[in-house]
Parts: sequence; C-alpha cells; structure tokens
Amino acid sequence: MILDIKTFPDKVLRKKAEPVIEFNDELKLLLDNMMETMRANSGVGLAAPQVAVSKRILVIDTTQAEEEGSLLRVINPEIISEEGEQLGEEGCLSVPGEYEPIRRAEKIILKAQDENGKEFTLEAEAFLARVIQHEIDHLNGVLFIDRLPSYKRDTLKKAIKRRIAEGDYIVTGME
Ligand code: NI
Repeated sequence: MILDIKTFPDKVLRKKAEPVIEFNDELKLLLDNMMETMRANSGVGLAAPQVAVSKRILVIDTTQAEEEGSLLRVINPEIISEEGEQLGEEGCLSVPGEYEPIRRAEKIILKAQDENGKEFTLEAEAFLARVIQHEIDHLNGVLFIDRLPSYKRDTLKKAIKRRIAEGDYIVTGME
C-alpha cells in the first residue's frame, strides 16, 4: 500500500521517533508499505516519521542510483563511527522540489537491527553514507534544510511559502 508522505512544515517531522521494541508482522507490513511508497515516489530512502509513524525505522534503496546499490530495512539505527567529509546535493520527499548541497561524513559505520530484531553493522561510504545520515536525521526530527546556513534556509522557506500560495506545494500539516 502506498502511504501519504508528510511534508515540511508538518510537525510530525519534528518529533523524536521512538525505538522499536516488538519485531512483529505489523512492523513487516509497515516496512513493505514504506518500500512501496519510496519506490512510487522514486526516493532513495524513507524514514517512518515521513509517513506519520514516529518510530526508528528506515528503508533505503540505492539500486537505481549506484551500480552496486543497497536495498536495506533498518531498525533502531545508530552511527557508531564517522570519518571524513563530503559535500553533495540533497533533496527530500518531505521537502519536494528543493535541492541543496549538504555537508556529511564521507564514511560511517552503522549499527542497527533487521526486521527480525537481529543486530548488524554496515560500513558505508559516499552516496550510501549520505542517504543513511539523511534518513537518521529524520528520526531525530531534523530535515536537510536545517543543515543549511541560516540565510539559505530563510530563502528556501520563503520559496516554499510562495509555492504554497501558488498551489505548487502540498501542505500536510503545520509547524
Ligand atoms: Ni528526507
């Protein structure tokens, strides 16, 4: 089932998401629906708060963007180490149509659980590392636009207000 994606400035995007404790069929169904929703919107990642579920759950699909892409279901993620720096353009399904260069760590080590609760660690770099960092931000109520210098963030917010007024941006909730 394709779920509705919440957009900035919806306040559900600002909540700190809760850890997953039960690894049951409900979780697996949510993961399937998130995968389907991400694909339907040509996204490379989706965090549960973006579909109004305030839990620490991500799906990632870089198989269209990279030759050896990754398809991941990630529960209770934690970055346990990071190294280096990269600057690259980011967008977000919750801030549709806006793209800005964002600084991220170049390499990370991710510790998380799979859909059955089994722990795993994953070393990621470059694009995949960027996607993971962007999605984990969502679990902490942080959007990529928060990482912009304030003057750029203000310009972007004004552009979105204008788009809302013109009916060119779907509002799902307020701040
Ligand atoms: Ni996003």
